[in-house]
Amino acid sequence: MESRTITVTNASCKYGNLNLRECGREFFPDDVFGPSCRTTGVGHEITLDLDGLPSPIQTDIPIDKRTGKPRWLFRERAPVKYFVRLHQLEPGQKVVIQRLEKRTYKVIPMKYPSSLTNSTLEQTDLLKKDLPETRLISRRTNSIMSNMSPFTIEPETKNHRSRKAGNPNLFDPPEHSDTKAQSHKRPRKRANDLNGARWLSNSISVWSDIRKTMAEQELKHPAMFPSMLVERFIESLTTRKHKVVFDPFMGSGSTLVAARKMRKVGIGLELNPDYVALAKDRLDDLFNKSSHEAEYFIHKADAHKLLEYVEPNSVDITITSPPYWNILNQQRTADSKAIRNYGNLDSDIGTIGDYRTFIDCLQEIFEQVHVAMKPERYCVVVVMDLRKKDKFFPFHSDVAEMMQKIGFIYDDLIIWNRQAEYNNLRPLGYPSVFRVNKVHEFCLIFKTVNRREKVTRDREILGK
Ligand SMILES: C[S@@+](CC[C@H](N)C(=O)[O-])C[C@H]1O[C@@H](n2cnc3c(N)ncnc32)[C@H](O)[C@@H]1O
Repeated sequence: MESRTITVTNASCKYGNLNLRECGREFFPDDVFGPSCRTTGVGHEITLDLDGLPSPIQTDIPIDKRTGKPRWLFRERAPVKYFVRLHQLEPGQKVVIQRLEKRTYKVIPMKYPSSLTNSTLEQTDLLKKDLPETRLISRRTNSIMSNMSPFTIEPETKNHRSRKAGNPNLFDPPEHSDTKAQSHKRPRKRANDLNGARWLSNSISVWSDIRKTMAEQELKHPAMFPSMLVERFIESLTTRKHKVVFDPFMGSGSTLVAARKMRKVGIGLELNPDYVALAKDRLDDLFNKSSHEAEYFIHKADAHKLLEYVEPNSVDITITSPPYWNILNQQRTADSKAIRNYGNLDSDIGTIGDYRTFIDCLQEIFEQVHVAMKPERYCVVVVMDLRKKDKFFPFHSDVAEMMQKIGFIYDDLIIWNRQAEYNNLRPLGYPSVFRVNKVHEFCLIFKTVNRREKVTRDREILGK
């Protein structure tokens, strides 16, 4: 197997340009070079399997119109950019491109050899000095992952091109597949569309790399989560067939932004008109106004009435974060910042004084979420434990108990580590009583039961 190494450049990170000049012309088939502009045609495409991406892509190499020489980059740059971001590659680092067959190539980051087989590891003798200690994956894990049959490899037709150029998080499934030829190869059930490498990294129980975008950092919502967090859940807990994403406490609209980025239909409810406007602005700013009309539904409404807006059995995944009781109305002790609440509107459940009443109120809302969801689908609730003076409120445990009472299965738990964002850590309680600086949130993962059990439970809920 022939292989070449390519150095990652600024342009690789920014635009997805891989400098193919380093490979040499003889490394590619002669006919892969195509006209400079797609409208006048393309070269005979090769198949490119970028490590970590949901499926291989088809691409050619464009020729510069002026000079008539190859531009030495793959025409399909958005997936390459995604690959660079996925593996957090930086300028100066290397990637390996291997020719597996005449027209099939694989691209692997040198610092993250997760999908190399043992023999490939030996053959290429990866430059171990390039591999940071923490990213080395044992050979045993390696071989497990290489046996994990990553994706259903669905060859794209020549006419099928990535429709989502510009959004590296999305990959188009082919419109039509050759069902007979492929059906016996396709796994019967898939939890998501991830390959082994991405599956492994998402499955680690603490997520420390979730960051707000620059634009999100500037938004005026006191308790928003980054759309990146939502994207991570969507890609882990849904397949491309699962389309409807719901958030009954939409706030600034991060759930809908993530849903839209991933070509899903987002539905959000929010009480506060300012946040409704904020969410709409975010979506309008991010996406072409004319193209998303049918792609999201925002309702200025009380989540108690959600079944007036969402059909029973229609939601594929719920990702939400309810108000953390009335904690935003209390004087902040961990820092001296001013109180910022959601506006204290009448039905704002963040204004309820009594903690038990607040949990009961949440239960009423999540009962309706249960009805709105399809069977065997996930509901992720992001919360934090709370303290008021001497009293500790294990909010995440109380939500877990409440959700199971409703009939959800408590399926798992991810810790969202936010320590990197905190610049105001203080020795809380010092010196008299030891207090914990809470720098994480709990992402509680629930699942709806099977169809038969859900029908029974929904009847009970609706008959109440
Ligand atoms: C923790 S915030 C959600 C933040 C959101 N995840 C984001 O990223 O922006 C909770 C939201 O619930 C809203 N809310 C409170 N009571 C509500 C109710 N009864 N119905 C709908 N929304 C409500 C608040 O206005 C607030 O924006």
